[in-house]
Amino acid sequence: MSGLDTPALLGGRPVRERMLPYGRHEVDEADVQAVVEVLRGDWLTNGPTVARFEGAFAEVVGARFAAAFSSGTAALHAAAHAGGIGPGDEVITSPLTFLASANCILYCGAVPVFVDVDPDTLNLDPATLEAALTPRTRAILPIHFAGLPCDMEAIHAIARARTLIVIEDAAHALGAEIGGRPIGGLSNLTTFSFHPVKHITTGEGGMVTTNEPALAERLRRFRNHGIEREVRERQATWRQDMVAFGFNYRLTDIQSALGLSQLRRLDARLKRREEIAGRYHQAFAAMPEVAAAPTRTGTRHAWHIYPLRLNGDRLRQDREAIFQALRAENIGASVHYRPVHLHPYYRERLGTGPGLCPAAEAAFERLITLPLFPGMTDGDVADVITAVAKVIRWARR
Ligand SMILES: Cc1ncc(COP(=O)(O)O)c(C=O)c1O
Repeated sequence: MSGLDTPALLGGRPVRERMLPYGRHEVDEADVQAVVEVLRGDWLTNGPTVARFEGAFAEVVGARFAAAFSSGTAALHAAAHAGGIGPGDEVITSPLTFLASANCILYCGAVPVFVDVDPDTLNLDPATLEAALTPRTRAILPIHFAGLPCDMEAIHAIARARTLIVIEDAAHALGAEIGGRPIGGLSNLTTFSFHPVKHITTGEGGMVTTNEPALAERLRRFRNHGIEREVRERQATWRQDMVAFGFNYRLTDIQSALGLSQLRRLDARLKRREEIAGRYHQAFAAMPEVAAAPTRTGTRHAWHIYPLRLNGDRLRQDREAIFQALRAENIGASVHYRPVHLHPYYRERLGTGPGLCPAAEAAFERLITLPLFPGMTDGDVADVITAVAKVIRWARR
């Protein structure tokens, strides 16, 4: 091993001087100006900018209605509530996701049922899904892992046959498409997140989209204490009728101004994400020790993250060692996700554990998330590829 090849973990020189994060927001001067304008105006919350953001967002994702929320998690809670999920119900979801996708089912007093992923796509496997259906199944809640669209045709066919609600967790998938149709208007309800590592950000924030007016109404009430009408709609009266159960899950006008401004650059950012993923793909296709992130023909991937899969049989180091070695090279690798059913709370409360979803568990052991965000320079992308190649040379059998 030459000096240049010595991993930084063993005292060699790191590929980069400074840590490259796995994700990062981008806020430009137009965003700042848009926020300042609202700060100088009459409405910081409950105002017209929220409605403008919702309108613009609905148009982008091809849905009739959009309702803004204070986080992607609140959006999921609202969608589960609006979808009528309650105590005694079972909701089928994927274990390979962020906790919020399953937690929202618990919030409604229902039971998450984890169905294994397809090892090729890392998304909910429709073939296994059928076997998990029971008379209590009320909804299916698929996640477009990393931004790769699920097989919604197969999921919708199952849902139609059993009149189940479909709630898509599209926190990773703003801008993704299936057969040229954007994700957002395909199912009963679709949720998005505007956390800073996502495609657009409002600091914290989320959105639910739907084509059904009754669901849109339920969503709006739920985020506003279950009050029948919103503040702007009741200027001439003091009356506030609480007609349903609800929370304060509102997104502010300040945040909505940021979201609206960010939305204008969504397409350019998606293209840059695609470009970076394409470079990774080309580089990793030539390395038998790893498998490039999955893609699916007929879909547009939103590339929220780049999940690299290690081929354990060609490596003498495990995922943890490779992860640490990449970090030592100043590549901000991460891992998405420890399957939800393996978390202590779920194990205790639902009695879940290893062996429940073997494909998700095996995938988790192999996954490393590489940096991917639109602000990465070509040099940053090259650094990631150089570091992966360097670490793999050290780690292979
Ligand atoms: C798949 C998925 N669902 C839901 C969420 C929750 O979104 P938020 O962080 O905006 O509450 C996230 C956020 O990381 C996510 O990745």
